[in-house]
Amino acid sequence: MHLFDLKKELISFLHGERSKNHNIGLVPTMGALHQGHISLVKKALLENDLVVVSIFVNPTQFDKKDDLEKYPRNLQRDLDILGSVSDKIIVFVPSVDEIYGANVESKSYEFDGLDKVMEGEFREGHFNGVGTIVEMFLRTVSPDKAYFGEKDFQQLQIIRKMVEQRNLPYQIIGCPIEREPHGLAMSSRNERLTKATRNQAGLIYQTLLSAKNKFGTESAQEIMDWVKNVFEKNALFELEYFQIADEDTLTPVLKKQDNKKYRAFIAVYADGVRLIDNLRLN
Ligand code: PAJ
Repeated sequence: MHLFDLKKELISFLHGERSKNHNIGLVPTMGALHQGHISLVKKALLENDLVVVSIFVNPTQFDKKDDLEKYPRNLQRDLDILGSVSDKIIVFVPSVDEIYGANVESKSYEFDGLDKVMEGEFREGHFNGVGTIVEMFLRTVSPDKAYFGEKDFQQLQIIRKMVEQRNLPYQIIGCPIEREPHGLAMSSRNERLTKATRNQAGLIYQTLLSAKNKFGTESAQEIMDWVKNVFEKNALFELEYFQIADEDTLTPVLKKQDNKKYRAFIAVYADGVRLIDNLRLN
């Protein structure tokens, strides 16, 4: 397995690979790898000759210092996992200084309103940070295809928008959500939950499934009220938002239209940890 921490060296290595006509896939991550990340890596390995996995906890996308500091980090374990998956993986682990130099700041983006709702509303500056780092990784690696999980569906749509707006020649591939056996979407943050909370956290997915069932017969407002009530009755979880939105524009649904695709989005706090999930409704 090749490991790089400098952009220059990674670029020069990839240059050599490209001259052999090798296709390159990119999977950006913040580490603390789990099966969700690995499912992206495996898909990328099927579709490319080699796969660059970046591991970088990007400071500019965290709106809370505490969340950044507590973000789980375990590089050796991540490298062991990737090493056991394939020898066609190139790992890029830059330092904050290598990426940002003295200016740890994000660029400012305009994503046609996709960044104003849900995660954008509750996490100030988050998507400017995501845009900055993803654009930098895309331009550094110049992959044929880059892979992102539907777990962060709003992020996926924003990255698609950025690539379209800037005319970048990279194909963005969305990948399905991997879940724990009881339904909780896999996340590096799950490690910070107590065992008891983690066992109960299937409630989030169960709620999304019920919302999907209700979507055929009930209005979006009725479903939103119902979800609010479910979480008000549960002391372990605090609902931050539940939203039913158009999958393409991410605008909240006012009146259902037959030709549109809708998705339910949820953010919940448990043990002080923020968990997000989403589910296609139709
Ligand atoms: P991170 O949370 O580490 O996730 C890396 C990638 O794995 C993202 O595309 C995310 O959507 C995907 N992923 C996470 N959990 C998943 C799951 N349960 N099923 C499927 N895919 C899952 O998302 C980020 O990092 C960062 O914002 C990043 C894009 C790396 C920019 O810093």
